[in-house]
Amino acid sequence: MHQAVLVTGASSGIGEATAVYLAHKGFRIFAAARRIEKLNELSGLGGGRITTLAMDVTDEASIEKALAEIAAEGITLYGLVNNAGVSVMGPFEQISADEWRRQFETNVIGLANVTRAVMRQMREAGRGRIINIGSVTGRVVSPFQAPYAASKHAVEGLSDALRRELAPHGVKVSVIRPGFINTPFGHQEQDALAKFTGADNPYAEQVRIFKEWHATGHPNAPAPTIVAEAVHRALTVDRPHSRYTVPANMLGVLALRNLMPSAIVDRIFERVTGLSKYRPQGK
Ligand SMILES: NC(=O)c1ccc[n+]([C@@H]2O[C@H](COP(=O)([O-])OP(=O)(O)OC[C@H]3O[C@@H](n4cnc5c(N)ncnc54)[C@H](OP(=O)(O)O)[C@@H]3O)[C@@H](O)[C@H]2O)c1
Repeated sequence: MHQAVLVTGASSGIGEATAVYLAHKGFRIFAAARRIEKLNELSGLGGGRITTLAMDVTDEASIEKALAEIAAEGITLYGLVNNAGVSVMGPFEQISADEWRRQFETNVIGLANVTRAVMRQMREAGRGRIINIGSVTGRVVSPFQAPYAASKHAVEGLSDALRRELAPHGVKVSVIRPGFINTPFGHQEQDALAKFTGADNPYAEQVRIFKEWHATGHPNAPAPTIVAEAVHRALTVDRPHSRYTVPANMLGVLALRNLMPSAIVDRIFERVTGLSKYRPQGK
């Protein structure tokens, strides 16, 4: 029997690539997201081993309904890939409480909702893998990224607790930390930043410079399969790492952040993003 894995946020980008990659590797995949019409494009792929499920990770009833469909097939999940995510970006001063809540509802509370709903069956089976898609932004943070970065720092923290709680029960927990990956996520972030570039916005020039740098990140980044490969490693090796960083050159960025004083990292950020050119008017 094929090992079964639930992948959240599988209607696009990393989740979609992971669902297809794992199915080709022989896993039975349950691919979940809100946009069922987008998910349906997956049916027929992956050797017929992909089943699509409507699921909003912020809605516990929808999670229960999706899990009931899996249970109805008599299947115990071996793996969970918590991938569903959104990015709220912009100047801290101008991000509303509702936007902060939207960020955390999906990336943190949603992840916790799905995990809580699945972990009991893994604990009782005495085996399983939980793979949380974090981000390099869970360690190294650009300006205008506060809610997203905070959510990914939360994923780092909750994953440490989860890993240590579940280790005695045979359930292993890993975080994958992607850097820029070429998915539609980048368009979503560009659209979010564009809202803050109006002429009357005091942050307009800063955001415009940052946005210009950010626009080059996703299109020139690796395809999402690179993340799918890391997920596959975390699912299949005997002793998965607690963290996988992809692409590998991002390890250099993490080392820089860990070894250098913040003041120097700040200067590097300003240089790299072009924000070192920014001078507030009259100052
Ligand atoms: N792309 C990058 O550069 C990058 C880098 C680091 C980390 N990541 C992380 O990788 C993950 C996937 O990102 P991506 O690049 O593949 O972005 P994407 O192409 O925009 O895909 C995001 C996925 O999340 C799903 N989703 C969003 N809200 C949801 C909700 N409430 N319930 C269920 N599903 C939801 C979306 O599906 P529906 O809209 O159909 O629900 C979609 O399938 C995210 O956690 C992101 O933070 C991405």
